[in-house]
Amino acid sequence: MTYDLPELHDTIEGLRAAVRQRRGEGHRIAFVATMGALHAGHVELVRRARTLAETVIVSIFVNPLQFGPTEDLDRYPRTLDADLAALAGLADLVFAPAVTEMYPGGESETRVTAGPVASLYEGASRPGHFDGMLTVVAKLFGIVDPDVAIFGQKDAQQVFLVGRMVRDLNFPLSIAVVDTVRESNGLALSSRNRYLDAEQREAALALSAALAAGATAAVGGPQAVLDAARAVIDAEPAVRLDYLDVVDPETFRPAGADHHGPASIIVAARVGSTRLIDNERITLP
Ligand code: PAJ
Repeated sequence: MTYDLPELHDTIEGLRAAVRQRRGEGHRIAFVATMGALHAGHVELVRRARTLAETVIVSIFVNPLQFGPTEDLDRYPRTLDADLAALAGLADLVFAPAVTEMYPGGESETRVTAGPVASLYEGASRPGHFDGMLTVVAKLFGIVDPDVAIFGQKDAQQVFLVGRMVRDLNFPLSIAVVDTVRESNGLALSSRNRYLDAEQREAALALSAALAAGATAAVGGPQAVLDAARAVIDAEPAVRLDYLDVVDPETFRPAGADHHGPASIIVAARVGSTRLIDNERITLP
């Protein structure tokens, strides 16, 4: 069976006109923001979007604002044709603007600042990343004007900060969150996995294995979780730990020894030159 490719827009004006037309037909709009190089994790977000609205819009934009000077902006995979094929029959509209369409005057001077949580974890390793991410997400919300936007739990700190921005700045939309999609061996799907060679893919399994070990130790409290997870990472010499912590999902700050209830184990590590992140939700007794 062949499915229709989504309608492709590369201008803000064109995308807005298409959205107006569909709104005129009474459609609700569900929106999935991506940087392309789509995999089954992204597709799961789009499938969820399909259940939430009559029109599904996916953006594909590698946002320079959220990459640091030494990061992988230039080598980040760009696979528009394959991405469109992956979205056939699932997305109605794809918005894939050039950098000059999104930032016609060069990088925008106005930024959304993510606050203190932006300097922790991902933010500590990637200064400016979250301000750049929130700025483009705010722009995309302004362009697409969705009723609902779907994000992945894979990027736990990102989804925390986007949710808070929506509340703090009163964006008139709701956020839906989709669980992390994994390979059958546990590896969280990521566009960056394609940088890994066969040995590195094997070593990368230590991240999800560490989370599983940590989750098993949850009855012992946060320190027991950290010790169990750490032991798994330390046993894999090809994995260089960046951070490992247990956080309170309400604040995205470290869960203290007296924390009870929902928590998240978060981990970031380098395998070769590739930086990978993962997380798992647990309940501390
Ligand atoms: P990107 O890394 O392309 O991810 C787009 C969306 O897909 C994010 O919401 C992310 O959490 C989700 N996602 C990625 N891998 C996933 C997996 N294995 N399971 C479930 N969801 C997954 O995140 C970004 O792009 C950018 O920061 C963006 C929000 C587009 C702003 O530029």
